[in-house]
Amino acid sequence: MKVRKAIRRMKPYAPPLEGRDPSASLLLDFNESLLPPPPEVGQALRRFIEEGRLQLYPEYGRIEAKLAAFHGLSPDCIILTNGSDQGIDIVFRALLEPGETVVLPEPTFAMYAQVAGTLELRIAAPAYHEDMSWPAEEVRAALTPEARLVVAVNPNNPTGTVIDPAILESILTDFPDVGLLVDEAYAEFTGRTVLPWVERFANLAVLRTFSKALAIPSLRLGFVAANPDFIAELNKVRGPYDVNMMAVAAAEAQIDHPESWRSYVREVMERAKPRVEAFLRERGVTFYPGAANFLLIRPGDSRGAVAFLRERGIAVRPQKGSIADCFRLSIGPLEVMERFIAVYGEYLDGPA
Ligand SMILES: Cc1ncc(COP(=O)(O)O)c(C=O)c1O
Repeated sequence: MKVRKAIRRMKPYAPPLEGRDPSASLLLDFNESLLPPPPEVGQALRRFIEEGRLQLYPEYGRIEAKLAAFHGLSPDCIILTNGSDQGIDIVFRALLEPGETVVLPEPTFAMYAQVAGTLELRIAAPAYHEDMSWPAEEVRAALTPEARLVVAVNPNNPTGTVIDPAILESILTDFPDVGLLVDEAYAEFTGRTVLPWVERFANLAVLRTFSKALAIPSLRLGFVAANPDFIAELNKVRGPYDVNMMAVAAAEAQIDHPESWRSYVREVMERAKPRVEAFLRERGVTFYPGAANFLLIRPGDSRGAVAFLRERGIAVRPQKGSIADCFRLSIGPLEVMERFIAVYGEYLDGPA
């Protein structure tokens, strides 16, 4: 098969997914929820099967209206996507011609560079500052006429960094012909969002997902929110049935019963995370105080720490590139994190 050169040159984005077993290991490596979704989600999935609609194509009107109402938006500001990964793909495909530039501060979530590769885009990659703050001035400097889009992952994965809303607002205002894609995959953990801005700024698109706080990454659901004119364009790029109805049924249940994921967010952010941070400080381990359900940790010997944890059944995520000396730790409920603290404490104590 004569595959395009650009694709042949690439490697797949292949996160270490196979063989993960939550009953055998503590999975602190993918920023997932450490608890399954509430019973209402399972009930909604069974109900969908029992209603006898598996043989029908999907329809999205009800979930779109529900999501829009939940977020105080008009339904024509929303398009569902197969995970927010598909949101990245359709926004890039709608906005950028091959050879045009996307401004993508690094380090960040790997799918951005992956999608850019498939489209033969140029990437301008200003580096996050040493304190892991967003390089606002460098982003502005990268906004040459070939630059069509700025990516602002907020909070960023893997640094946990948040971006001052005033900075985002100034980019939207000062560069009206450049798109700004704000990825809010972890917004439930911060309680801050720019979703309402989509009614004010035609050059803004916001990505959201049901994969993190809303705990259904297995089912693949996200959405893009933007001005209705841009959503109409995205509807030409996304397929009419790309999102499956099991995901929709589960997502409706999560929107109808937010108590469970809201209480999970409080547990993680108000109890577990402060405890892990206090432990790391006490033990003199460098980390970046991010705003989401994970921490970027820079121990003296990241490989050794990751291997020690792995041998004792705790999976964390080693990093690459400029932060190859770090690992990323997902935060779950306090009880779970006490186990991490005990094992990591043993590692820090060294051999007896
Ligand atoms: C910042 C960010 N954006 C998007 C995603 C993609 O999530 P999903 O495709 O499951 O919605 C992730 C997943 O880790 C992420 O960290």
